[in-house]
Amino acid sequence: TKKIILDCDPGHDDAVALLLAHGNPEIELLAVTTVVGNQTLPKVTRNALSVARVAGITGVPFAAGAARPLVRNIEVAPDIHGESGLDGPVLPEPEIELDPRHAIDLIIDTVMAHEPGTVTLVPTGGLTNIAMAARKEPRIVERVKEVVLMGGGYHVGNWSAVAEFNIKIDPEAAHIVFNEKWPVVMVGLDLTHQALATDEVAAQIAAVGTKPAKFVGELLDFFALAYKDAQGFDAPPVHDPCAVAYVIDPTIVKTVKVPIDIELTGTLTLGMTVADFRAEAPDDCTTWAATELDAPRFWNLVTEALENIGEV
Ligand code: BDR
Ligand code: CA
Repeated sequence: TKKIILDCDPGHDDAVALLLAHGNPEIELLAVTTVVGNQTLPKVTRNALSVARVAGITGVPFAAGAARPLVRNIEVAPDIHGESGLDGPVLPEPEIELDPRHAIDLIIDTVMAHEPGTVTLVPTGGLTNIAMAARKEPRIVERVKEVVLMGGGYHVGNWSAVAEFNIKIDPEAAHIVFNEKWPVVMVGLDLTHQALATDEVAAQIAAVGTKPAKFVGELLDFFALAYKDAQGFDAPPVHDPCAVAYVIDPTIVKTVKVPIDIELTGTLTLGMTVADFRAEAPDDCTTWAATELDAPRFWNLVTEALENIGEV
């Protein structure tokens, strides 16, 4: 199995990522941590706990992390995720308690408690917690297997012409994460814009027929309207579970090794993930960009995870 820590800001697609991680037998979910992003920290943390109840997740520690980015002011995304951060379905009252530790301590403790090279970090929000964890306990950098993050992109942006939300809201944190010597797989917009929840996909999920599947259906309905209004999409891109899918089965997501760095000073390009495709990546390159998604197999993974979760 693949051991992961999911660091997230639920968020509609974060919620699907959590359900996929929980419902897939290949994944051992070691911990879930939250970070300010789609909404404030209290909101996304409550959402995470609420999704845990929907999915029947127990025995996995959940901890809250950074309430603001390292340097910048908070920027949330109500146009995409609503005022709650998870608008659409009714959110059940959480049943599990938060772990008392700060997310960065839970991340550090978990990585240090497992064999080197066995724990994958899967950030699906801003990179504040991950950057702080690397600074507080630098030994995690060589101990982590890899960082498979949803964020960035090499051809498109969504929070500016060239920058993606998760990177743009905390570019300094992203700079730290991309420049540490751990392997970083950037599952960016080029990839996630291939993970569109079309009507066909919605029907496939609805056919599972359980309460958690209905919950996902309601999430996707809201997400579809928001993405249509805010960004003109005919079907919404469900970004975050793509990172989990890569961990489950890397043959579903094609990647290319390429040097990637984060723009910190551009007036038009702040938070851009600058990928240098001019030549073949040098031997010491530790960054990869995701390029191509096998969308049918991806959606099958999501559907199977819901089938495995069943009625909670
Ligand atoms: C990313 O931004 C958030 O709104 C989503 O949850 C996803 O992680 C896409 O740019
Ligand atoms: Ca997210």
